[in-house]
Amino acid sequence: MADRPTLPSPLIGYGEDSHRLAEGRELWLGGVRIESERGAVAHSDGDVILHALSDALLSAFALGDIGSYFPDNDPKWRGLESRVILEVVLQKVRESGYRLLQLVAVVTLDRPRLGPHRVEIQQNLAALTGLPERRVGLTFKTSEGLAPDHVQCRATVVLEPLPEKQGEKG
Ligand code: C5P
Ligand code: MG
Repeated sequence: MADRPTLPSPLIGYGEDSHRLAEGRELWLGGVRIESERGAVAHSDGDVILHALSDALLSAFALGDIGSYFPDNDPKWRGLESRVILEVVLQKVRESGYRLLQLVAVVTLDRPRLGPHRVEIQQNLAALTGLPERRVGLTFKTSEGLAPDHVQCRATVVLEPLPEKQGEKG
């Protein structure tokens, strides 16, 4: 076939994260501190939404995962804020010539109820990613008692090429 310019296509990415819940820990979701008797046991702030989102973004470009850049067995990264991880990952997205178009996240947690915090988490994720709030979809599920000591997030992202990169090879 004759040489045809390859248009960069939209990309999707998927990520997951889980943490055990324990008393005396804080619960952070999407960069928002949630009032809760228990929080995530983690070296970092244990924010499953920001971790799943960061992995989803890296996966779209086959750039490995968070641990490729911030190994959790390296004391240097102990207590690292998830917000910082997301900033580094979003910079890689821009360098790849893409921008985030949509984010959907499903959080599984039995208690507390997250519905009352939906708007605050949505607004914070929009601020962190530059997305409009209507492109930040949040679904909350219980585990129906199957995993009461567990918080989990599954996140999907859709990305589109930056306008100035259209026509370049992807
Ligand atoms: O898991 P289940 O389908 O029974 O959850 C029912 C509803 O409870 C969800 O659709 C969601 O609106 C809400 N929910 C919540 N916070 C959670 C879990 C579920 O607000 N931690
Ligand atoms: Mg149900």
